[in-house]
Amino acid sequence: MKRIAILVSGRGSNFEAIARNIRAGKLEAEIAAVIANNPEAKALDTARDLGLNAILLPSKGIDTDTYAAQVVAALAPLEIDLICLAGFMRRVGQPLLDAYAQRILNIHPSLLPSFPGLHVQQQALDYGVKFSGCTVHFVDAGLDTGPIVAQAAVPILDDDTADTLAARILVEEHKIFTEAVKLVLSGNYRIEGRRVVATRYLRAGSSSS
Ligand code: GAR
Repeated sequence: MKRIAILVSGRGSNFEAIARNIRAGKLEAEIAAVIANNPEAKALDTARDLGLNAILLPSKGIDTDTYAAQVVAALAPLEIDLICLAGFMRRVGQPLLDAYAQRILNIHPSLLPSFPGLHVQQQALDYGVKFSGCTVHFVDAGLDTGPIVAQAAVPILDDDTADTLAARILVEEHKIFTEAVKLVLSGNYRIEGRRVVATRYLRAGSSSS
């Protein structure tokens, strides 16, 4: 069974969706740890309620690379195959990127490369785009720049606020994160430049042509 670690900072609805999908048999994986960098994170309580290995590793006042080394140390005994950043609101430091090269996924509530960073639903409204959405991507050293594994689009309505848009996007986040995790854990993909290409799909396509 593949083992995942989930890093969270707050509410944890994406973490809950993954946990739910595992329990429903839609994703074959085990959540070996849930690490929160914020003592107030509701996701920590949820993880404990679900009987998971919930770890509080506060990041306040700790520089990015030192914190990343602490996460690496916490995860080292757990034999983690994949790290999922599920509403984890800190940059990922180099020690973590080195230890889990191309094994860290992040979910972001915009159609990257549009609107990286924070407050992105408001950014989308302010820009006036007619569609936004969400992206699951591999994490690299940039800000929301790694190769894209999955995206889903949602329309922006004239009476949207940042909150109503965020809620519409969140519904899609809960679907595509599990799909992306499933693909990456299956190993049936390769990264060509910036493109994440599903190899099983390619094989099926080429044999039928
Ligand atoms: C989600 O919308 C996620 O995409 C976003 O934070 C929210 C967390 O919700 N992540 C980022 O903005 C990362 N830069 P959740 O805690 O309920 O999963």
